[in-house]
Formats: sequence, structure tokens, C-alpha cells
Amino acid sequence: MLANSRFIRALAGTVAFASLGGCAGDAGSPPTIAAPTVAQWPTLAKPDQHDPAIEARITAILSEMTLRQKIGQMTQADIRSITPDQAREHYIGSVLNGGGAWPGGQKQAAVADWVSLARDYHAASMATDLTTRIPIIWGTDAVHGHNNVFGATLFPHNIGLGAAHDPELVGRIAHLTSKQVRATGISWIFAPTLAVVQSPRWGRTYEGYSSDPALVRDYASAFVTAMQGDLTGPTTAIATAKHFIGDGGTWLGKDQGEARTTREELIKTHAPGYFGALEAGVQTVMISYSSWTDTGAGLAHGKMHGNRELITDVLKGELGFDGLVVSDWNAIEQVDGCTRTHCPQAVNAGIDMFMIPDDWQQFIEETIADVESGAVPMSRIDDAVARILRVKLRSGLFETSPIPAADAEADLASDAARMTAREAVAKSLVLLKNSERSPLPLAANSKVLLVGRAADKVPLQLGGWSLTWQGDLTDDSDYPLADDMLSALQKALSAGGKVDFSEDGQGVDVSAYDAVIVVHAEDPYAEMKGDIEYPATIRHTARYPQDLAALQRVSGKGVPVISILFSGRPVYANDLLNLSDAFVAAWLPGTEALGITDVLLRQPDGAQGKDFTGRLPFVWPADPCPEVAVKPVLFDRAYGLRTSDHTKSVGLPVDNRLTCPALPN
Ligand code: BGC
Ligand code: BGC
Repeated sequence: MLANSRFIRALAGTVAFASLGGCAGDAGSPPTIAAPTVAQWPTLAKPDQHDPAIEARITAILSEMTLRQKIGQMTQADIRSITPDQAREHYIGSVLNGGGAWPGGQKQAAVADWVSLARDYHAASMATDLTTRIPIIWGTDAVHGHNNVFGATLFPHNIGLGAAHDPELVGRIAHLTSKQVRATGISWIFAPTLAVVQSPRWGRTYEGYSSDPALVRDYASAFVTAMQGDLTGPTTAIATAKHFIGDGGTWLGKDQGEARTTREELIKTHAPGYFGALEAGVQTVMISYSSWTDTGAGLAHGKMHGNRELITDVLKGELGFDGLVVSDWNAIEQVDGCTRTHCPQAVNAGIDMFMIPDDWQQFIEETIADVESGAVPMSRIDDAVARILRVKLRSGLFETSPIPAADAEADLASDAARMTAREAVAKSLVLLKNSERSPLPLAANSKVLLVGRAADKVPLQLGGWSLTWQGDLTDDSDYPLADDMLSALQKALSAGGKVDFSEDGQGVDVSAYDAVIVVHAEDPYAEMKGDIEYPATIRHTARYPQDLAALQRVSGKGVPVISILFSGRPVYANDLLNLSDAFVAAWLPGTEALGITDVLLRQPDGAQGKDFTGRLPFVWPADPCPEVAVKPVLFDRAYGLRTSDHTKSVGLPVDNRLTCPALPN
């Protein structure tokens, strides 16, 4: 496809937006098509995982299989839409539990129920009439701990880990996550997300670590190394680098949208996470829903799921990836000319395993027909199945049953998981403001007034991908082990101290307290529903006016006010900052809010406990419409104060617009 006028207009629009977080590098570009850039994919120092014995077994197994059996292996269905018996009958290669899919449809399903379902799928796959039985593999979105499972410790979402700037910590979390997942009989994890997010409008911003490609690369390597271990141990799991590639670079942060970048920018900004993951030997890569438009060459390549060049020539060729490529949830239907059950373009582009959650049966029939008609060559099918078998063989699935030891259940919320999550929370907090009046750190025996609708609700500190897909439809009873801010303060304050809670701050005598803590939050969201769509502003209080109202009721009463914000993204918050003596960006910390009180409070003996060490993983906006602002940045990436740093209290300008101006075109 060649550039058309629509594309030329689009390019002009990137001029202002590029100022946010070092976007595509098109700042100042005239509305013309630039000359193609020559950009190189690097040669990676990958571990040598080639094993002649495994390759020989792959060849032997392939030679025994019919076309129907091969396509079955290439199919991944959701547990809500396939029984173990159907998995056996159709030689299904994989199942997944999508966000909010639990055994028996029970949100609070017990670990034993997960294990029993895993056992049933596994047994079914070992009871096919294949000459060599091929074990099924179950994949799950354990993106901040084993987040679909009741009772699991949940870690901060990736944005908070990005603030911690600590690859070693990320490795420990990855390993603890694989232990949680293996304890339920599951051995494939759809993480890490390696998106290098450019716009906080994107509802998946929090799934990304940072806008700094170098940090994402380091984290990818640490995460994959720790999660996969030697691939065969009882507590290791297969990791997935997702979503390849450019998911974080879509225009105006639109989910599943169009990444407009030059090829050079794709390699420099969006690819380094994959380099880190591949160098650590990642076994699977998930393709992005987004499309790529090469703004250097003026070429619209369309949806990534049909991009043969990037999947086959680059990922499998130049970058030497020999594991399996999986499609995203029904994503093939977005490729030009495809439906959700029929997409020879995606097979030919190099996708090996197809996530067709519900209509998998139709996919099998239509793909068989494609091979019979010659639309898909048999060699492509053999390559796909060889890759699936390679991952299954390498991970020891043929030799060892994925069913966990009886005592593995303790791994869901082990002391190590809870302590590590708490440590991660403490390290993820970024102190954005600390005026001369800030009382931080608070004495352990302080009398604290706690305000805000998020202060006593665990789901608001968890965000999306928490028991349910969007993180909604849950309450504290779904997280019996978790602490919210109220319970954390009750536990952490020492004798003589106390905490009183008022959701909206109405009618409280503030003067009776040493300090007020106000908790602000976004409601939970995940992909698709979490975008702040242009032209809406990214002002937090435009979306949550009750947070501002509560703060106004308690601020300026002579008692210092500390604001804590739970959010999946940087937001425009000048109004909240102005009314707070101290302001903490706490991201989406997960189940262990004691990690927050560890930093807010002194020890009972008066000594300082942990200090703030988190630094911004993204720039913090100075404008509710950062795409069109002259100076869009209030705090740069890597900004973060310690309690000994005091900022002068200057009133920040407050822009209460509800709608951003039209973008230039
Ligand atoms: C998401 C993936 C996820 C998959 C399975 C998709 O909608 O984009 O990140 O792994 O669903 O739940
Ligand atoms: C699933 C998610 C999936 C989403 C995509 C939901 O119903 O539970 O896992 O990512 O659909 O549309």
C-alpha cells in the first residue's frame, strides 16, 4: 500500500503529540513523506537452545500426524468454550483462561478446582489416538501475580515496577509468579508486556514498565530469565513477550490502534524489550492487535497479525526466534479480508498458535480447507507445529505432568510472595511533592484522618486484570488476605496512634488530627475500556470530581494533607497537587498496602523506616491536553523526591477544560 492523503494528514498531526514522552520523533516534521530511513535490526547474543535430540523427535512426531491433528495443535480455546473431552477429540494444542475465566465459572474457585481442571485437560490430551501423545499446554494472564485466582498475592502492576527501577526485584516477582501459576497446574504465562507506552491515554499504560526502552529491555531480560529458569523445573513457567510490536505507540494511545513510527523508531523505541526477552531465551511471543504505519517510508502495513515481514523475516529470521508465535484474542479478524475463524494471511504471516477462544471448531475446519486448497502451504503448517512441539519438548511437558505437588497451594500467598510484593510497593512509590509543611514521614503514633473512596477498597488499588478482566465486579471479600489503606494504617500505627476514616471528608473536625491522608483513584479498567479518548482531557478530577471535593473539604484547615493517587497512568493533577502538602503517585500497588505505610510512617522508636526511592517511569504531564501543550511536562521521567527533599509550594496553574482543542491537520 502506498501513502494516501489520509496518511499525509495523519503525519501532520504527530507534530505536537511527539512532545509527550519522546514519541515517534516526528516533532516538527512537515506534512510531507520523508525519505525512507535505513534501519538495522541487531544481531542478538541469544542462548544456544538448539538440541538435535529434540529436533529429531519433532521430525518423528510430525511424520505421524494428519493435517487435522496438526491444525488442532495450532488451536487455543478458552476454558469457558471447550471441555476436556472436546480438547481430546480435536487434538487441541492449548487452552487459556481469559481474564475472568475460572473453573466452573466460580470467581472464588479453590486452587484444587484449578488443579483438577488442569488435570482433566492434561489427561484428555494424553488419551488421543495420536501415535505420540502431545500434552496440552494451558496459558494464563498472570500479569501482576496469578491475578485470575482467588487468594493469590497480587504484585504492583508493571508501571509501579518501572518506578522501582530494580531489575533484580522484577526477577524475583517473575519467579514468585511462576510458582503461583504452577501451583494451579498451569505452565504458560502471557507476560511480560513489553509495550513502550507513548501516551497515557492508552488504557493499558499500566501494563507497560516505562517509556524508557533501555529499562524495558533490562526488565524483559530479568523477568524472562527468572520465570523460565531452566524451563523444566517444577516452579518454572514459559513466558510470553507481548504484544509484538508497537502496541505502546498507537496514535493518541488508542487501544488496538495504529502505531505511526518510522522503522528506525520501531527498532529504537519499541523493539528493545524484545531484544532483552529473546536474549533471555523467551519461548513465546504474542502478536499485537495494533497496526503499523511506517511514517518514514509512507507505508501503511496494516494489522500486525498479517505482517509477514516483521513476524517471519524479522522475528523468526533476523532475530533468530525459534519458539512459537501466538495470536491475540480473536485478533485475526482485524486483518484485512479475514474473519475471526478464517485468516490464511495470519497463518502465512508466521503465526503458529491461534487464540480462537470460542469459535475454535470453525477455525480448524476453515484452516484445513485453506491447506487443501493451497492457500496455506503445508510447509507453513509443519513449521508452526514444529515450533509448538519444540516449546512443549523444551519445557519438559512430555516428561513431567504439569500437576503440582500437594503442598504447592501455599505458593499462592506465601510469605515470600507477600513480603516481596510489600517491598515492591514501597519501592514503587514516587513522591512528587513534599512542601515545607509536609509531615513525612509521620510519627508511628500519629492521629490520622483517612479520606477518600479508595482508602478502604482493595479493588481500586489493584486495577484491571484482577480476578475479572476489567478488575470490576469485585469487592474486599474477594481479597481476604489483602490490605487496603485503612487496614494497613490500623496495623501499622503504634500505641497512641489512631486512624479514623471518612470517605468524603464531610462534617469532620480536621483539627483533631496530626495529619490527613487523602486517597484518590481511578476506577479499575483494562484494555478497550480504559482509554481516555481524545478530545477528553487527562485531568483526573474531570473524571473523578468526588476526589477533588473530598480533598477540598479537608485541606487548608491547618493540618497537613498527604495525597496518595492510585492510577494506571500519569494524569494531570495540578489541582490535587496544589491542595496537598505532599503527593505520592502510588500506581496500582496490588494487595499489600503495608508497603505504603512502611514508607509513610516512622518506626515506633522514631527512627525513619524506608524512604521514598521510586522515580517516574513516564513523564508527568503539566497539561490536560499534553498532545497540544507547549510545555507538556511537569516532572520528567526519573523524577522522584525523598522525604528530606523539600519543594517550594508554588501554586500550579489549573486548567479546567473538559475538551482538548482539535489537532492540527
Ligand atoms: C490481550 C492479551 C491477553 C489475551 C488473553 C487479549 O485481549 O490483549 O494481553 O493475553 O487477551 O486474555
Ligand atoms: C476475556 C479477556 C480477553 C478479552 C478480549 C474477555 O472476555 O476474558 O481475556 O482479553 O475478552 O476481548
